[in-house]
Amino acid sequence: MTTVLVTGANRGLGLALAQLYAADGAEVIVCCRDPETAGALKQLAASSEGRVRIVPLDVADEASIASLKRALGDQPIDILINNAGINGTPKAQSADRIDAEGWITTMRVNALSPVLIAQVLRDNLRRSSEKKLVAISSDLGSTGVDYGSTSSVRSERYAYRASKAALNNGMRGLARDWAADGVLVGILNPGFVRTDMTGARGAASPASISAEESARGLIRRIAELTAANSGAFPDYLGETISW
Ligand SMILES: NC(=O)c1ccc[n+]([C@@H]2O[C@H](COP(=O)([O-])OP(=O)(O)OC[C@H]3O[C@@H](n4cnc5c(N)ncnc54)[C@H](OP(=O)(O)O)[C@@H]3O)[C@@H](O)[C@H]2O)c1
Repeated sequence: MTTVLVTGANRGLGLALAQLYAADGAEVIVCCRDPETAGALKQLAASSEGRVRIVPLDVADEASIASLKRALGDQPIDILINNAGINGTPKAQSADRIDAEGWITTMRVNALSPVLIAQVLRDNLRRSSEKKLVAISSDLGSTGVDYGSTSSVRSERYAYRASKAALNNGMRGLARDWAADGVLVGILNPGFVRTDMTGARGAASPASISAEESARGLIRRIAELTAANSGAFPDYLGETISW
């Protein structure tokens, strides 16, 4: 049975990924900051015949990452999905309005934690059959894209964009450095998805796709990961994003 671990699994894309993998018969370790309030995850676990296990994890806290490792022991993890992320705090950071503490927090959650979690769970990946390490990135991490003038919401997200570019760079490094262990790395852009992050879950949302539709595409991309495409940066439909 495939074992999948998803961070930030209590809502949005993480929840959709966990639900789809569970429905497909996988064993799913769902991580979230506060299991007590994670109603959808409790429901998923209750209906999974023991295949879904909730483990507390605050990705910004190294002690919490160490406690995740203790909870897992040597258990093989086939697919490790670093999904937890924040919008940037505060969201609006532009060329002439940078918030230093907010920038560091954004980098810690979006860029540093996936690499730390991968490092701590490296042996769990190596012990598995699939050995797939996944990061949910964003096309906003693409350095080559022109985000327009300072009036654009995208152009204001300096911290978020920098964090996703740094995430991509860290994951590319792991794709190279752990290739000899057979670890395959997927750096995936989920598209513009209706979640709390885009603030747009309703029908009138400008975000183009549902979390379930994005998650289905991401799962296909993860299934297609091989040594030949490890370290690449596609979107949920398989289109390559420029660095
Ligand atoms: N939605 C989009 O259009 C879009 C586009 C590109 C990339 N992405 C990326 O996709 C991923 C998921 O985004 P989403 O749209 O599903 O966002 P979301 O609905 O806001 O969900 C974010 C998830 O991350 C968790 N999280 C945040 N900080 C955490 C921390 N310190 N420790 C543990 N969990 C933490 C949240 O948990 P809490 O409930 O505890 O806060 C929540 O489960 C993110 O990495 C995001 O950057 C999303």
